[in-house]
Amino acid sequence: MDLIDTPIKLPDFKVIDTTRGDGRSGADAAAAARDAALDGGRVLRAGGLVAFPTETVYGLGADATNERAVARIFAIKERPVINPLIVHVRDEYQAAELVDFNDMAQKLAHAFWPGALTLVLNRKPSGPLARAATAGLDTVAVRVPAHPMAQALLHQAGVPIAAPSANKSGYLSPTQAVHVLMQFKDGQGLNLIIDGGPCPVGVESTIVDVSTERPVLLRPGGVAAEDIEAVVGPLAVRDTTTITAPGQTDSHYAPSIPLRINVLPKDRQKGESLITFGPDMPRRAAVNLSKSGDLTEAAANLFTMLRALDMPGIRGIAVVPIPNQGLGQAINDRLTRAAAATTANATKGPPKVNDPIGNIKI
Ligand code: TXA
Ligand code: MG
Repeated sequence: MDLIDTPIKLPDFKVIDTTRGDGRSGADAAAAARDAALDGGRVLRAGGLVAFPTETVYGLGADATNERAVARIFAIKERPVINPLIVHVRDEYQAAELVDFNDMAQKLAHAFWPGALTLVLNRKPSGPLARAATAGLDTVAVRVPAHPMAQALLHQAGVPIAAPSANKSGYLSPTQAVHVLMQFKDGQGLNLIIDGGPCPVGVESTIVDVSTERPVLLRPGGVAAEDIEAVVGPLAVRDTTTITAPGQTDSHYAPSIPLRINVLPKDRQKGESLITFGPDMPRRAAVNLSKSGDLTEAAANLFTMLRALDMPGIRGIAVVPIPNQGLGQAINDRLTRAAAATTANATKGPPKVNDPIGNIKI
């Protein structure tokens, strides 16, 4: 691969649609995906920022070896500089150039990569990563994404891609390109947005710290903890009293209106929209995460439905209890954080208006 580019003028807020919409044929869509990967690779190598689809959520990517490009991610996301980024790599071999890959990591990589699992490992002191990407920590979070667009971009870029979720710090992660468009403006430094359609998993990756002997679950996510435990045995759960990264605090992933969890349909308050789950729910609910009670489908719908309800005229969101197994753990984690953050922000008390939206169906 020829990685030596002539200097390019970085585009501003350019969008490439690689989906099959607008009457495109399959061949056109494949060509668009190739063009997007080529363009995206060039922009990344030139120090620009590219929003791209992964199977979990959209990422906001920069060359992970370029200090200035990585700093720009923190600036446009308004992310605290002490919150390290996930470094995306093509495969295990590229990961091993950046981190000390141990036996447990190998086992997990074989079982779940490419996929929605991020591994925290000790950073190779001589490795090429920008210090800003890891917020100066001696560990690095690495992931091999499975999404074909993300894979194509990694191949064309030829460098590891540091990418947090492509949202403003603290807000819900984007699972569609339009969510990215709604969060950023032109002229802010986001050069290219690659639209690859909705993200199939819909919640962020599971993060497991394997830098020490006992694996620790830092964030439940797109790979169920039970599946990971079947490979490496019991996971320790992170000690919430010692926060090693701000992503581990509770005030994350929040819509802008109050959200209550574990609410039975009969306890919904006026003005609140109800999110339900499963077949036995009242039809008056605003939305159902999965009518068939499928937690994987519910995870894929979660952020899109929360965004759809986070709008003027809706005073609050109430969510019924969600089973805490499989992807339900990730769903409950995000909902608990959202509830904590919105409770902390809420000064107005419970919703007061007259049930404006509790009975619409989307
Ligand atoms: O699915 C995903 O993981 C998406 C896609 C784009 O890959 N990315 C994502 O990134 O969710 P972000 O930045 O929104 O969340 C990364 C989390 C943060 O909570 C951060 O604190 C944690 O990973 N993290 C990064 N490096 C870490 C490290 N060395 N030790 C512990 N936690 C780390
Ligand atoms: Mg995020």
